[in-house]
Amino acid sequence: MTRALPKPLPLDVPGGAIGRRLDRVDGPDKVTGHATYAVEYEVPNVAHAVLVTSSIAHGRVRRIDTSAALTVPGVLAVLTHESGGVKLKPVEAPFPEGTSGTALLPLQTDKIEQRGQVVAVVVAETLEQAQHGAVLIEPEYEEEPFIGTLEESLKSGRADLREPVEDEEYQRGEAEKAFAEAEIQLDLTYTTPQENHNPLEMHGTLAVWESETHLTVYEPSQWILAPKHTLAHHFGLDPEHVRVVSPYIGGGFGSKAATWSHLPLAALAAKIVKRPVKLSRTRAQMFAGVGYRPATVQKYKLGATRDGKITSISIQAETQAGMNGDFPEPVAGVTQMLYDVPNMAVSHELARTHAGEGIMMRAPGEASGSFALESAVDELAVAAGLDPLEVRLRNYAETDPKSGLPYSSKLLRECYRQGADLFGWERRTPEPGSMRDGDTLIGWGMATVTYPVYASAATARARIFDDGRAEIEAGSQDIGTGTYTILTQIAADGFGMEAGSVKVLLGDTNYPKNAYSGGSRTAASVGDVVMAASQGARQELALIAVQDEESPLHGLNPLDLDAREGRLFKRDEPSRGETFQDILTRAGRNHVEVYREVLPVGGDPKSLDQMMGAKNASTEADAAGYARHSFGAAFVEVRVDPDLMTPRVSRIVGVFDIGRVLNRKTAESQLIGGMIWGVGMALHEQTDVDPGTGLVLNADLAEYQLPVNADIGAVEVHVLDVPDPHASRLGARGAGELGIVGLAAAVANAVYHATGKRVRDLPITIDKLC
Ligand code: MOS
Repeated sequence: MTRALPKPLPLDVPGGAIGRRLDRVDGPDKVTGHATYAVEYEVPNVAHAVLVTSSIAHGRVRRIDTSAALTVPGVLAVLTHESGGVKLKPVEAPFPEGTSGTALLPLQTDKIEQRGQVVAVVVAETLEQAQHGAVLIEPEYEEEPFIGTLEESLKSGRADLREPVEDEEYQRGEAEKAFAEAEIQLDLTYTTPQENHNPLEMHGTLAVWESETHLTVYEPSQWILAPKHTLAHHFGLDPEHVRVVSPYIGGGFGSKAATWSHLPLAALAAKIVKRPVKLSRTRAQMFAGVGYRPATVQKYKLGATRDGKITSISIQAETQAGMNGDFPEPVAGVTQMLYDVPNMAVSHELARTHAGEGIMMRAPGEASGSFALESAVDELAVAAGLDPLEVRLRNYAETDPKSGLPYSSKLLRECYRQGADLFGWERRTPEPGSMRDGDTLIGWGMATVTYPVYASAATARARIFDDGRAEIEAGSQDIGTGTYTILTQIAADGFGMEAGSVKVLLGDTNYPKNAYSGGSRTAASVGDVVMAASQGARQELALIAVQDEESPLHGLNPLDLDAREGRLFKRDEPSRGETFQDILTRAGRNHVEVYREVLPVGGDPKSLDQMMGAKNASTEADAAGYARHSFGAAFVEVRVDPDLMTPRVSRIVGVFDIGRVLNRKTAESQLIGGMIWGVGMALHEQTDVDPGTGLVLNADLAEYQLPVNADIGAVEVHVLDVPDPHASRLGARGAGELGIVGLAAAVANAVYHATGKRVRDLPITIDKLC
């Protein structure tokens, strides 16, 4: 396969900063502790709040005695469902159409409907006093039978716990008939466990009432408009009087895109004690009440010809949900679009548990769904006696099989080719257990990687100052992915300045509105508006200069000007020009300022209005007449000790197609993080539930297993750099979610290749290999 890469399309992107491996602009502040996270803000007279959470998963609070807690010196108040003044007005629309992630409002009733539900809040002068008060609260419960896990929900046979997810139902062709006629028939069930988000920074809120009607909250948020509107609803405030400050976020991975019970509780506590209140969840309190990746059961019927062409896939999916809320882990999306499969049928049901609401977790749907799909395709390769990569090529989709639309840009073949070369895939011998290093079994597995392109309307303000600085304000968020850095690069090129002179300000609802930082949309959405605003500010300067008789640029057409390093000049006569500072100083101006709104490519003009009304207003992956997806290929080597059956990932190679690369370093870093998370998904992660209580057993980072350095061998990542003009004006697509997709299957496939054992139930632990 020697196909030349298509030439980058001519886009009007000024050169310089974009594409460079610029170090994170927020890096020095983060490593020196100067970056202030939400609950680290110092405000005068602050009180501290601690949550008391339920020790049962289902039932009611019979009695809750707060008297002992109230005698602790420094304790200011204890809030329970019985104490006065805790009424919250429910929000009407669920996330993401509206603003809230909590279908169950805290402290509104004696009912317990999820493990870890908040039953009291203790507020005190100091954190330690609040903690002391909290341990003295021992509610009496009336316990009722609980459903702790997806498995229990399905086993219960209770129809009232099941709910079809109509949005996820899907059909094309005649799946059943094609399966019945297929030469190869595979009937396989894959399961994935509940997993929990574990960002380094816990969820928390610092709530400050500026007056009876004006509230400021410091809250790590992937979408600052969500807490703003949630709180406005709860407390009957004008949304414009609620300010959310969230400049740094220590990871969110989806869970910080919604709001959770601690948010209104911090504001409520602050209202009651008439002081600012700081409330941080503990690590243990991160395992309930702030979402999770729902467990899944995915039943696959895959029909194929003897030569490996897939003719039919049926999926019957069951995914875990809480008793309240309707988040459907969208597992089947990836199967609908990835291969050229003529016949398909998907049915999907929620199965309710007392786990509370699930929520998006990195590559929601695709991460779990691709484990099933990419394992099944590997099983087909085995059944057909074909190389796993060859099977994928035989089923390659030239146009999107779901929409019939052409792809905006699809370099998956190139990813396969480069990945296989870098990995040395051709040296693979097909027989399980046939590759060894001494006694150690070696397994090589691979998977296809993909994630849709989402984009949203975006707004930003740009200023160029007379002292040689410039800034961008955008009410978007950097959730730790490098958004500050790539936006600085984009703005530097848009302004025509050095990146070091540009400051990007994010994470404040006082800045122009933007969508949530989720679904890998920020680079494409906010990137475009930052380019528009910074170019617009430069254009303002140009207009001043060409009208100024004292300017060397006087009388020129602004369109004939270019800018570099803070100097405006005639494009074809670079010596003719002057600095931004000179232009502004002579004009007696401190700065120029522009505001811009940008619709995503193919976006509906309504989406801007919707976003202004605080809806996420995302464009579909097939807007603009194209199917838009990022792609990649992952190759994994595992080493298994044949006596102990401990799989170790010794090598990963990933090659990815993400459109234009805005910053190779931050892009690679996102993808490496995603792939390593995929190893965690394959071998380590699962939330264990106590069958006796329905509570989480491993609610800490010692027992909730995540891969550490010792678990990860060599990781090699390569990112193609071919702009996709249909994804965004800059040609960029997101990279945040992509890396994890397919990885768990690639590991499982490698484990099969090493051992001959096919594990269809994550995580792949030793017990499943013996
Ligand atoms: Mo991503 S799971 O949409 O933050």
